[in-house]
Amino acid sequence: MKEFFEQIKEKVEEIKNRPGTIFGLVFPYFLIVGILIGLYFVSKIEFLSRQKVPPVLRDTVVVADLQMREAKTVPPVNLSEIKNATPQLLSEGETLYKSNCASCHGETGAGGGPASAGLNPAPRNFTSPDGWKNGPKLSQIYITLQEGIPGSAMVSYDYLLPEQKFALAHYIRTNFVPNPPEDSQSDLDALDATYNLSAGQQIPAQIPVAIAKTVIFRENEQYLAKVEAALTKIESSANKNLFSKVTNNGKVALMFLVKNFSNIESEQNFKKIVINNVNQNGFNGNIFNLSEQEWTELYKLITSVI
Ligand code: HEC
Repeated sequence: MKEFFEQIKEKVEEIKNRPGTIFGLVFPYFLIVGILIGLYFVSKIEFLSRQKVPPVLRDTVVVADLQMREAKTVPPVNLSEIKNATPQLLSEGETLYKSNCASCHGETGAGGGPASAGLNPAPRNFTSPDGWKNGPKLSQIYITLQEGIPGSAMVSYDYLLPEQKFALAHYIRTNFVPNPPEDSQSDLDALDATYNLSAGQQIPAQIPVAIAKTVIFRENEQYLAKVEAALTKIESSANKNLFSKVTNNGKVALMFLVKNFSNIESEQNFKKIVINNVNQNGFNGNIFNLSEQEWTELYKLITSVI
């Protein structure tokens, strides 16, 4: 027994004198612990990396209403004529350019007009060939004027007549753009197809939805009180179930009848207009199952309340 302890003591002494052995004995232990921690981490990686804070999305949705626009007739243009810069077109272009464009693009077309200060991107310098977004061809300048350049101070000039847009494009190309590139026939055909140039256009008037709503509301306002009163009377009448059976929306039905009051002077006519407009006028398909007697009751009910 004693010998055994002696032996161990000797061994320990031996090991102490050789640090490499200690390292050799301890190293596998740390290696295994390290690997276990690593495995644990990898097995939980999905949990650890899951986002707690939802990503922030910038609200880039801009809700814009329709623009107020008058109806207009856009006269047709003859592309094979208007593609040539005539003195008449050039002088028309000059007048338009000086009053509409020079404030940003400068009298000399090199940009830097009085209204250009601080604009980013800066108004295009027409005399430099680099960096055009659409380009300096006749058709490309036309597209710029029609659509504007989104995200810049270059707004759309679509209210100008086609001839005026061509006049401007010719003026810029002739006076400012060095060696302006020519349009191919297919460039011009595409322009014609996109904007209906040789056919001309009838553009209908348009008003913003918000204004349309108020107009419709005002038009109906005068009837609204009548409809409300009629609805209350029906609620307290004996035939209120008959009315609710044949209507999807009692208010809409009464509004329809109030507006068409002059057409329901006879039961015959009442029947006709209710049936002809069923599903759009607040009445539903049950109307087709009414007996003659029920029709008469319905008619009496309606005429007694409106
Ligand atoms: C309020 C300042 C302003 C006015 C006024 C203005 N523009 Fe511009 N225009 C710009 C800016 C800014 C750009 C540069 C847009 C860009 O590069 O994104 C530009 C670019 C252009 C381009 C180059 C488009 C391209 O392909 O890169 C043309 C052509 C042009 N304008 C024509 C006109 C004409 C013609 C008028 C007058 C009817 C006019 N602009 C009036 C600010 C203006």
